[in-house]
Amino acid sequence: MLKGNSVVSISDIGKDEMFELFKLADSYSRSVEQGQKIDSLHGSIMATFFYEPSTRTRLSFESAMHRLGGSVISVSEAKSSSVAKGETLADTVRMAASYSDIIVIRHPMDGAAKLARKFSSKPIINAGDGSGQHPTQTLLDLYTIRKELSGIDGKEITMLGDLRYGRTVHSLLLALSEFDVRINLVSPPLLRVPQHILDQVSSRIRIRVTENLNDVISESDVLYVTRIQKERFTDETEYNSVIGSYIVNSEIASTMKKNSIIMHPLPRVNEISPEVDADPRAAYFRQAANGIPVRMALLSMILGGK
Ligand code: NCD
Repeated sequence: MLKGNSVVSISDIGKDEMFELFKLADSYSRSVEQGQKIDSLHGSIMATFFYEPSTRTRLSFESAMHRLGGSVISVSEAKSSSVAKGETLADTVRMAASYSDIIVIRHPMDGAAKLARKFSSKPIINAGDGSGQHPTQTLLDLYTIRKELSGIDGKEITMLGDLRYGRTVHSLLLALSEFDVRINLVSPPLLRVPQHILDQVSSRIRIRVTENLNDVISESDVLYVTRIQKERFTDETEYNSVIGSYIVNSEIASTMKKNSIIMHPLPRVNEISPEVDADPRAAYFRQAANGIPVRMALLSMILGGK
């Protein structure tokens, strides 16, 4: 159940609840479009802690809270060193829990949100923990697929790029394993999905692993492109060996199905050429826009607003 609870992993949200959330997001999307004023979270305070760079996630969380009539307090410190130690994070969270009703946290350490939950008397939302998970991105990714392709079941989804360090890929893959989908994982060998995640999903869905995008592109309903997560590499030579591995340009897009979509959690560096932006199948900016109604629905369901 979401009410009063944390979202640290995508598995914290059941499938039924996810669809309830999507319906609520649809209705918020209409209300925002029509300029209706919503005041359901008036008096509630959300605290955001972003210890890693963020544009979309932070702004859309803050915008979502404002749109619901709530307030936002935030701390942003790009230098993560002082909070990288568990002890300090614990203290920060204890304090924040007494200042707010819900805490949104992004942190460079895998497991940071889980640790934060341990010390918080208020719900914690994981807005990205190192190369762990990014569950709210997954909610908006699934919402986007459902909206753009009228459903998720039956689809063939290709994930491309940095599947090793990309946290959006990890939580999306875990979530998709609850659906009737086919998955293609396309990456250089160095950037394959970690084994512990594959172990959790491979008995439930059909997964094909390849280095060659051409093997799967023409069959894909969704091409989910990711950025090589430069900041996660400890070895620069390794990074240099994989930069520019895949670049989606118009030529590649021309081999895709007519009613397929191209997604990307953003920010992109060079993995999708700007020439693709004008293609109606380029869904990444629509995907980013979906972050608002989806996060409104999530905040509302956790904090119990109507
Ligand atoms: C992603 C992230 O932070 O994991 N960005 C986002 O939240 N939209 C993807 C990335 O940084 O490449």
